[in-house]
Amino acid sequence: MSLAQSPFTIAVDGPAASGKGTISKELARHFDVAHLDTGLLYRAVGRRMLAGVDPVDAAQSLTVDDLQADGLRTPEVAQSASRVAAISEVRSALVDFQRAFARRAGGAVLDGRDIGTVICPEAEVKLFVTASAEVRAERRFRELLAGGHDVTLEGVLADVRERDARDSERVVAPLKPAEGAVLLDTSTLSIDAAVARAIEVVEARARDVA
Ligand code: DC
Repeated sequence: MSLAQSPFTIAVDGPAASGKGTISKELARHFDVAHLDTGLLYRAVGRRMLAGVDPVDAAQSLTVDDLQADGLRTPEVAQSASRVAAISEVRSALVDFQRAFARRAGGAVLDGRDIGTVICPEAEVKLFVTASAEVRAERRFRELLAGGHDVTLEGVLADVRERDARDSERVVAPLKPAEGAVLLDTSTLSIDAAVARAIEVVEARARDVA
């Protein structure tokens, strides 16, 4: 099925390691639309802050090279991203780019924390993907181990909880389900089952708005 209506935005929000990244990639592939992992924007700013750059300056001068830099997936950069993401000037510097991407011709999937609530409340589809902290920590632990990082499951769980609390309790654009979002709990779902469910949700909405 193709998404005939254009623009057609699929907003996918949720906490770290909920499966939203994989689901978003697969949705983009299935429906042949562009995909933006908005966490990368915050990671790129967080990485530059660790290198001593003022985070607001970094957000205002972000380049494509910053988004392709090495080391954006490390736990240190993830924590730093979560810190810079609580600064309202950082967030506002990144809004226009994300909004333009969301409404581009041909359709788009964006995944993050505030896509359905702030960036694109008019999105045709809003998904809130979640899973228990323990399940998410286990997934992230395996990914980091596979990537050669020296981590423990307890450490990753503590990191996940710390980031959840910071992302959900911040004043600007806190992580929460958007109005009208479909909740998808992936705790006990395989990746294939979670992706299949997300595709069903999008297809149903695409039929409604056609
Ligand atoms: O999705 P991620 O783990 O790559 O995101 C890294 C951090 O960036 C996350 O802890 C919170 C922040 N973030 C955000 O505040 N808003 C977004 N739309 C995406 C990410």
